[in-house]
Amino acid sequence: MGSLDFGVTKELAMVEARIRESIVTEEPLLHDIARYVIESGGKRIRPMVTLLAFQALGGKEIRQAVDCAAAFELIHSATLIHDDINDGGEMRRGRLAAYKKFGLQNALVTGDFLFVKAFGIGGKFDDDIVEITANVCAALAEGEIRQKRHAHDTGVTRSEYLDIIERKTALPMSAGAKVAGLLANARLEDIEAVGDYGINLGMAFQIVDDILDVVGDASRLGKPPGTDVREGNVTLVTIHALNDGSAIDVEDLERLIRKRRKGEADVRRALGLLRESGAVEKARHDAEVYGALAKKTLDPLPEGEAKANMIRLVDYVLSRDM
Ligand code: IPE
Ligand code: IPE
Ligand code: MG
Ligand code: MG
Repeated sequence: MGSLDFGVTKELAMVEARIRESIVTEEPLLHDIARYVIESGGKRIRPMVTLLAFQALGGKEIRQAVDCAAAFELIHSATLIHDDINDGGEMRRGRLAAYKKFGLQNALVTGDFLFVKAFGIGGKFDDDIVEITANVCAALAEGEIRQKRHAHDTGVTRSEYLDIIERKTALPMSAGAKVAGLLANARLEDIEAVGDYGINLGMAFQIVDDILDVVGDASRLGKPPGTDVREGNVTLVTIHALNDGSAIDVEDLERLIRKRRKGEADVRRALGLLRESGAVEKARHDAEVYGALAKKTLDPLPEGEAKANMIRLVDYVLSRDM
């Protein structure tokens, strides 16, 4: 993924090396599955957030930030393995999802393995860092469970949706930034600032992900669009379409969301309704509002290259198609 250059290419290579050495095991199959997931790419947004926040806050000892960034990416990769099992996602990072390729049991255990390896790296840091990290892993699990509980529920509110994505995506990104601030020995208000940056960036990121599930291109995304529709995950796009879909047959959309066993034609029909409803544009606007908030949170930070790159990262997240 050399194409995303936010001024931390060298540091990201260190993160990559740290991840690779951490997943060595005597069990060849476990190593193969872990490598399959890690080496299939991924945008590495989370390590970038950690590294950039560390630089922006004047951090010196890069080794520690690299370790934490590696730990957060391992956690992220673990959750993707589990998330695909949860969501029935068949492709990931342009390849078959791990559970499709290696079987459910093997994939589950590999997810756990990556989690443990993350804590092996992160667990040696100060208590506050370990606690922040453990808390967001718990939040992530809460978000995933809550999302499943609301599946096929056409009454999901905007605030319930926002609560779910905050837990599953925004808080983990925020934690990566805050940890960087702690490692950099930054002032409390600056640690808060990058934490808020992470929250808002993460909210924008997940809203864009949910938009791409409706309008994205499978080969660019490395995962097929339509997964949320098929699984009955009610995202912000759906919420907008249900609340103001004067352009479409809302009852038909409701029926399709509630339908448990959807055929390909159902999924295509639902995606068509969502695209015609004007909801994508509204959700884009919501993502832009979070993006603007993310940039604004950086106001107290000193001007410099890292801060400029954090701002560019927001623009990337808003405009990405992969
Ligand atoms: C996918 O995250 C899961 C979401 C939070 C939407 P990414 O889109 O960052 O996945 P990779 O790491 O780049 O593959
Ligand atoms: C993100 O949500 C999942 C996690 C944060 C684990 P999605 O379910 O939308 O992610 P994708 O679309 O499968 O990558
Ligand atoms: Mg998913
Ligand atoms: Mg998604």
